[in-house]
Amino acid sequence: MDAQEAEEWATYANEAFALSLVRAKEDEESLSPEEAFDGFHPTFTYPIFGEEQRVYGYKDLLIELKFSSGSLRQYFNVKYSERLPPSPAVDDIESKLLEAKVLLPDHYTDEDAFLKQVELDSTAFKPLGTKMHSYSRRVSHALRPDGASDVSWDRKPSSSMSKTPEPEEETELVEYEIFHCTWKTPGFREYHRRIQIFILLYIEGGSFIKEEEEEWEFIILYEKRQRKHSPEVWTYHFVGYSTLFPFYCYPEKVRLRISQFVILPPYQQEGHGSALYSAIYQYVLASPHIAELTVEDPAEAFEDLRDRNDLKMLLNHQEFMREALGESHVSTGGGPARHQRHRHGAESLTSRTNGVGGKKKKKNEGKLMPPTDKAFIAKWKGNLKIAQRQFQRLIEMLILKHID
Ligand code: ACO
Repeated sequence: MDAQEAEEWATYANEAFALSLVRAKEDEESLSPEEAFDGFHPTFTYPIFGEEQRVYGYKDLLIELKFSSGSLRQYFNVKYSERLPPSPAVDDIESKLLEAKVLLPDHYTDEDAFLKQVELDSTAFKPLGTKMHSYSRRVSHALRPDGASDVSWDRKPSSSMSKTPEPEEETELVEYEIFHCTWKTPGFREYHRRIQIFILLYIEGGSFIKEEEEEWEFIILYEKRQRKHSPEVWTYHFVGYSTLFPFYCYPEKVRLRISQFVILPPYQQEGHGSALYSAIYQYVLASPHIAELTVEDPAEAFEDLRDRNDLKMLLNHQEFMREALGESHVSTGGGPARHQRHRHGAESLTSRTNGVGGKKKKKNEGKLMPPTDKAFIAKWKGNLKIAQRQFQRLIEMLILKHID
């Protein structure tokens, strides 16, 4: 076989691999066309298929991995039009997935049996652990726009951050609940083996955590839906989760580190990542034994999310902002306070470059100007339990915002 022929038997694994979340029939039917999604692809498959993320030996390959939307029980199926005879060069897909622990040994291969399990799980499955937070979002029931793709992960919620629904659009309030678990939570170890799969598929450089490390904590986010025809029944659907590890922090506290954080593609870009991060942050603030929240090797998208949420929190924190802005945040009659603030910031920067800025700063003009005030930073970094580097970055962003 020449190189060109060989190429015809190779498939880009990220495209061939289709994941989906399956709901019970009644729950699926009550989703609007906009909300319904058929499937989504992994972002990374190199932990399974190697650096090139290619599967060799098949034509028209489709690797289906379906999950029961709450319990995450799996159904696995491989479809193709042609396959080369078995040889070491031809990928044995099932073995590779099992080896990478993306596919679990108890997966279903009979679709009817899987769908029966989905029906059972839909009412039997309840989130494990302790509920720590809940919120709701309005989901619009507008018709799916023309030209929607086969694999669609666009669910467009009508929340405060998206456009106001048109009058003829029907909207439904959907609840979301966040639960806290540890390895001691009954049944969680087994459940975690089902969810950790998403770490390999969506976090670059992500790897499984060690089950023998007892200290891990887990925060899991679910969509909670009420059955239309039997309103007494609530069903739960997995949205995303985060793993947290507490490190000892002298003398008697811990520093909690976000190690892994993932929101499944159908739910991304809807504010759920922010909601999950905020719930973790509130948990840290409310826990006297936790000194601060840190993040392990954050991906760029996660850094954005963290910055946006931390900044929003600071801007809404009245006591912090009062001290940060000093007297200038109170209007003195000469125009809106915002403009006063801007003037002070700009003045101070200019004065500094002219070498005459020192004395003016003593007049309680606030702290949002360079050079940053060390005592102010130390006090608020401690009170707000934000890591040093992150807090410094936030202050710099606030300085830029107020000088602007
Ligand atoms: N309607 C429309 N857009 C919205 C809404 C809304 N209701 N709410 C938020 N958005 C926008 C935000 O403004 C933001 O826009 P931007 O990207 O232009 O800044 C964007 O949606 C994302 O914000 P969220 O929706 O809050 O975040 P999301 O739920 O998409 O989660 C995350 C982000 C966690 C990075 C997710 O994309 C993900 O899981 N990615 C794959 C895995 C990953 O990279 N994880 C982080 C690794 S780092 C680590 O683990 C420590």
